[in-house]
Amino acid sequence: MNLRTTLRTATRQDHERVDQLGGGFDLAKPADYGAFLLGHAAVLPPLEAALDAAPPQDLPPGWPERRRAKALLADLAELGLTAPPPSPIAVPATSAARVGALYVLEGSRLGGILLRRRLAQAQPGAPSAYLAHGDGQPLWRTFLEWLDSRALDPAETHAAIDGARGVFAAFEAGFRHAATRPA
Ligand code: HEM
Repeated sequence: MNLRTTLRTATRQDHERVDQLGGGFDLAKPADYGAFLLGHAAVLPPLEAALDAAPPQDLPPGWPERRRAKALLADLAELGLTAPPPSPIAVPATSAARVGALYVLEGSRLGGILLRRRLAQAQPGAPSAYLAHGDGQPLWRTFLEWLDSRALDPAETHAAIDGARGVFAAFEAGFRHAATRPA
């Protein structure tokens, strides 16, 4: 089984939880869309900043162009919102944990493509720089090539799964917190 399939299988339920929570925001309502973005903003900017400090060999090709914090904060500003305090997150401290964290960050683009289409229908003209980031670029394919080139032993694979699950848990906390915001 390759590393992507191992990570996907090990985090299926984590993904189902964030998918459900993220899907709970009604993208037709500006306040809900704002809350959805705030849920992301509690995790993505601090996590990208932490990964920025990693040794270059621990980052996928084109890392600087993959970063989405600027696009996310620009969308929030257009909605009159500012980034919330960061969610509690275990910053990935090893190369293997970073592999797992990056898998979740880069994989979340796939749902973004679907959500962007929903947003365009539900709220034409809503700021969508974040969900549209990387459109037309083969970022997921080149990420998977990089992921497949990682040779992790069983202990490292375990650390990568933990790294991935830590990031999913932070997004879950971010969505749960954002969902408590008054409409
Ligand atoms: C409403 C919210 C979400 C929806 C509708 C959604 C939907 C999707 C879809 C359609 C895929 C592609 C599945 C496939 O190719 O088989 C996907 C993959 C993925 N999503 Fe989500 N997603 C959501 C939220 C998230 C969030 C918040 C994260 C992480 C922060 C995330 C992480 C991932 C990952 C890592 C994959 C790649 C799985 C793989 O194929 O290896 N998703 N998502």
